Amino acid sequence: MPGEPAPEPYRVWLSEVMLQQTTVAAVTPRFERFLQKWPTIEALAAARDEDVLSEWAGLGYYARARNLIACAREVAALGDFPDTAAGLRKLPGIGEYTAAAIAAIAFGEPIAVVDTNVARVIIRFAGLESTIEQSRDTIREIVASMTPADRPGDFAQSMMDLGATICRPKSPVCGACPLAEDCVAAASGEPERFPARKQR
Ligand code: ADE
Ligand code: SF4
Repeated sequence: MPGEPAPEPYRVWLSEVMLQQTTVAAVTPRFERFLQKWPTIEALAAARDEDVLSEWAGLGYYARARNLIACAREVAALGDFPDTAAGLRKLPGIGEYTAAAIAAIAFGEPIAVVDTNVARVIIRFAGLESTIEQSRDTIREIVASMTPADRPGDFAQSMMDLGATICRPKSPVCGACPLAEDCVAAASGEPERFPARKQR
């Protein structure tokens, strides 16, 4: 299959951890600078804690940087990143979303990658009348059924981008959406009504 080679797991992991708390615009220059300092997971694993923590300053919680260091050392000891979401999930600081994102993007595992943006797209597309929290399993099943065996990482990132830009929380742009034809929320005329808010 032609196309781009899969990005290195180290770069995917680093970017996903940085993006957990900060916007793409804020992350981009910090990501590049971090990679110049520590170009590989082995280099990061060998870094002094205080150097990594000071480089992380302004990117958010120190707990994330602490997990980052712990994860780098575990991966270096293993010899490489685990190549499945189940294996990645066991590493420090890697939750369900991050494990799935790395597995799909770096290793081509056809697994459902669900962040908040993707969850909103699916709730609207399927017209689910519940909150994101209540529909978590259903959303994951729907995304799994849509995810292609070929280029699952590109599919995952397309869905995240769709949710961040077109199917945005306020005023979704259904006229520009590739899912519009089969979308329950768009057909209702009130796509913004989805997802239901948390009851109180
Ligand atoms: N947000 C966090 N990670 C992302 C990715 N890989 N693609 C699009 N949006 C993202
Ligand atoms: Fe979201 Fe509209 Fe696309 Fe449906 S058609 S997924 S509501 S942007």
